[in-house]
Amino acid sequence: MTPFQYLKKTEKQRRKDLFEFLAFPSVSAKSEHKKDVAACAKWLNSYMSKCGFKSRIYKTKGHPLVYAEYMVDKKAPTVLYYGHYDVQPVEPLELWKSQPFKAQVRGGYIYARGTADDKGQVFAQIKGLEAVLQTEGTLPINVKFLIEGEEEAASENLPAFIKSHKKLLKADIAVVSDTAQFSKTLPAVTYGLRGLAFVEVIVDGPNRDLHSGAFGGAVANPVNELCKIVGQLHDKNNKIAVPGFYKDVKPISKWERQQFKKLPFSEASYKKMLGVKAVHGEKGYTTYERQWSRPTLDVNGITGGYQGEGAKTIIPATASCKITCRLVPNQDPDDICRKLEKQILKLAPKSVKVKVVKHGGARGVVVPVDGPWLEASGRAIKKGFGKEPVFMKEGGSIPVVADFKTMLGVDTLLIGLAQNDDNIHSPNERFRVKDFENGCRTAAVLPEELAKVGE
Ligand code: BES
Ligand code: MN
Ligand code: MN
Repeated sequence: MTPFQYLKKTEKQRRKDLFEFLAFPSVSAKSEHKKDVAACAKWLNSYMSKCGFKSRIYKTKGHPLVYAEYMVDKKAPTVLYYGHYDVQPVEPLELWKSQPFKAQVRGGYIYARGTADDKGQVFAQIKGLEAVLQTEGTLPINVKFLIEGEEEAASENLPAFIKSHKKLLKADIAVVSDTAQFSKTLPAVTYGLRGLAFVEVIVDGPNRDLHSGAFGGAVANPVNELCKIVGQLHDKNNKIAVPGFYKDVKPISKWERQQFKKLPFSEASYKKMLGVKAVHGEKGYTTYERQWSRPTLDVNGITGGYQGEGAKTIIPATASCKITCRLVPNQDPDDICRKLEKQILKLAPKSVKVKVVKHGGARGVVVPVDGPWLEASGRAIKKGFGKEPVFMKEGGSIPVVADFKTMLGVDTLLIGLAQNDDNIHSPNERFRVKDFENGCRTAAVLPEELAKVGE
């Protein structure tokens, strides 16, 4: 039996097993789910063992991580697979058509929190490797698997783990399936990710909520003032108006501009998919350039005052917001946080107290766009999806990819299996059954293609 035939034969059971994995509410951001995250790690650990890997759990200061390996031969290449078993919060729950932790198949999609980001994708890698193990009795490469439980919380404790386990994690190349394909008809090799800088802004006004008639007009309203500050963080061309923000940003190369232009883009269908009337962004750049190769600044959430039923006429005592910037390679998250803080404090009027809490973030990365590893992953994608992949970048962030490079000296192959309309971080997250299956196939042929690099 070939690995592909094995995958075909075991499709039903594989789906069942994935549904078990998806049933854990492993929301890393919320302390109320700490036990669920741990239970998910435990399940994954024993599942990896059942699949034939030597697997164990490592505790961290935060959520545990699962490390598994299958070592065959010192001379064969060693591949470090990475994924995350934690998921984003599910709110707003009322917008889900089926329960987020009870996976359901509808119209060719598996719906559940974590299907595309990232349980379904990492599961495809596991099951592809298992198919090779089951049919061939061994693997042509050494495999190390690192599956963490804190990616959605910015991988806070992972750098320390990598630093103290350099020998354990030593590898020739890393593989990450935690991104999207270019489209439903075009698989992709992703060669870059943006980084992230995260700050929180807290604006305090009067020492209690005030009657907006009795005091309105004479006291600064923290919500008004916060909005004014936020409103000044972009200029009229949608450039970020923070001094020094672009200092380390390199212009987009000619090669890259041409590469992006080759990719199909329909503004009409893009707008339709998102339900917006017009696209938006930094003047002088195309949508792909804005999404993948330019930095951004966005408010993720803003809070303050009364939002309950009916009217409550107050000047709220306080307001706050969370801001993230997407960064491009060379921009340093801590440096950007400092610059942001400085500018926000400068914009703050004396009538309110403004505090900026800096949370750091992740660095952006680009990986080499040529070389034998990338070619090998291209061949595997072609065999798994039946189509030659295109080159693209992604606007999202995977913090560990930069750490792999700086701490272990390892480049990463970003083999995205999902789609950009899979609703990751959003209600009704989904993963196409077809993408899951083709992803498993890609994962099953990847080892033999990577093994060729070592020959
Ligand atoms: N899988 C995503 C990253 C991603 C999203 C890649 C979209 C490509 C397209 C990952 O799980 C994620 O959400 N990362 C966070 C990182 C943050 C918490 C440091 C992100 O990008 O917001
Ligand atoms: Mn992810
Ligand atoms: Mn995510």
